[in-house]
Amino acid sequence: MKQEELQAIASQLKHPSGEKGIEMGNMMNETNINMTKHSILNLNMSNENRILELGHGNAGHVEFLFEQAEKLKYYGLEMSELMFQEARQINRNFVSQKQAFFSLYDGNAVPFEDELFDKIFTVNTIYFWQKPEELLSEIYRVLKPNGNFCLTFAEEDFMKKLPFTQFEFELYSTEKAQELIKKSDFKIVYTETQTEEVKSKTGELVERAFTTIVLEK
Ligand SMILES: C[S@@+](CC[C@H](N)C(=O)[O-])C[C@H]1O[C@@H](n2cnc3c(N)ncnc32)[C@H](O)[C@@H]1O
Repeated sequence: MKQEELQAIASQLKHPSGEKGIEMGNMMNETNINMTKHSILNLNMSNENRILELGHGNAGHVEFLFEQAEKLKYYGLEMSELMFQEARQINRNFVSQKQAFFSLYDGNAVPFEDELFDKIFTVNTIYFWQKPEELLSEIYRVLKPNGNFCLTFAEEDFMKKLPFTQFEFELYSTEKAQELIKKSDFKIVYTETQTEEVKSKTGELVERAFTTIVLEK
């Protein structure tokens, strides 16, 4: 594949847009669903919890999230206008019932008041965080005391073999993510790495190692 094509894949993963973006949103949701479900399940949601997700893509997994407990409220934040629109469309019933709320933000300042959420999660976004320490402290700020944040990402050793990650991506190993977390006020309560077989963005089947870190305020 040419360098320009690889760069285009990286840009779409970072910020889905245009005609290709809808396709990319569908493909991401499908390929990453196991990571997303794993992140959701690690939050151990209780009835009436208010949940925040950063970088939901097309949010095809929100129905699964609502199956985890009664009377949940889901808030999704995106930087991509296209994913924001797609997520609202796919989840239009939850939106009209005021169970799901979607917003755009700048990727740095979380547009919510302090201590609003019981649980927060994000999957496959850390590679694109512009100011990781600041975003982590924003996540801490909007989480209730004793609330959990689940951070899920594919491991650097796996990601660096994919040709498009040379563009746009900041890759993380478990150790590097833990170093970042140590600079915050969060406690790490659980870390798990597992492998799964997935189709890569360039078509071939690959063994992917991914990590989930559960943090507590
Ligand atoms: C690789 S996709 C992952 C989507 C979905 N979470 C998944 O795992 O399939 C990254 C998504 O995060 C969004 N994004 C990038 N940087 C972000 C940030 N700082 N905060 C929130 N979302 C971000 C992008 O617009 C894109 O939709």
